[in-house]
Amino acid sequence: MSSLSSKHLLGIKGLSVEDIELIFSTADNFKDVLNRPMKKVPSLRDVTVANLFFENSTRTRLSFELAERRLSADVVNFAASSSSVTKGETLIDTVNNILAMKVDIIVMRHPNAGAALFLSRHVNASIVNAGDGAHEHPTQALLDAYSIREKHGEVKGKKVVIVGDILHSRVALSNIFCLQKLGAEVMVCGPTTLMPKYISSLGVKVEHDLHKALEWCDVANMLRIQLERQDIKYFPSLREYMMLYGLDKSLLNSLSKKITVMHPGPINRGVEITSDVADSDQSIILQQVENGVAIRMAVLYLLAGKVS
Ligand code: CP
Repeated sequence: MSSLSSKHLLGIKGLSVEDIELIFSTADNFKDVLNRPMKKVPSLRDVTVANLFFENSTRTRLSFELAERRLSADVVNFAASSSSVTKGETLIDTVNNILAMKVDIIVMRHPNAGAALFLSRHVNASIVNAGDGAHEHPTQALLDAYSIREKHGEVKGKKVVIVGDILHSRVALSNIFCLQKLGAEVMVCGPTTLMPKYISSLGVKVEHDLHKALEWCDVANMLRIQLERQDIKYFPSLREYMMLYGLDKSLLNSLSKKITVMHPGPINRGVEITSDVADSDQSIILQQVENGVAIRMAVLYLLAGKVS
């Protein structure tokens, strides 16, 4: 297979296992390119990509922009806070104005679930979902699974626990879909208040005791507490959260085996994870960031092949 099954990347749910494997093998090639002195290839010459960020981002925005520039695409950036959206312009009007400038691919982050799907039904460009509300963040899940594959040889058969604010997390949902498609066992762990009510219907194990969850897993993906999406108090204090669901060095060292620690970022150091764990040899957090560029190059390259 040399082509993705869709001209958009809206979520992991819509990807086949073959799509994911194609993205990984393409990313392997781009990782080689990124390790060369000449890191730029002409693959997206004459392709224009617009990065539309209606919500804050550091990693994803920079990673996409770097991926686009490494592929020699023409890049335009749009941040909602400094645009005419603040003057009342609708999403469709904003995007149609950008498309009138002959844009081929739109990478969009938006606070509303379904925004990328909505856009894909109304405009002609390829749409890449860079995070839509608490719904999906497909490139994050792809880079997470790719990093597990790199560290452990394969994803199939691995036990992965996703810890923390599952309720507000697009990273959790995309990771669950991606890891299960690739044959991993998935557990979610966190306080009852931050656990979606019917989460077990997705076929994941649910555990509220962090020590038990960590003893079970090969890999722990520690999620950020999304205070900006929490309209009520879901736990008494960050201090109590850290005591029950934070990962520190003494807890890590107390486990009967060496697990791999991940975090999608941005990290609240001392809340989900302490600095000595984040910076330890069991952490692959920086490898996740590095792999993010190769994965996004692969996604953009494969979608550009479908631009008409
Ligand atoms: N992991 C992630 O999506 O980070 P940003 O919000 O900084 O893009």
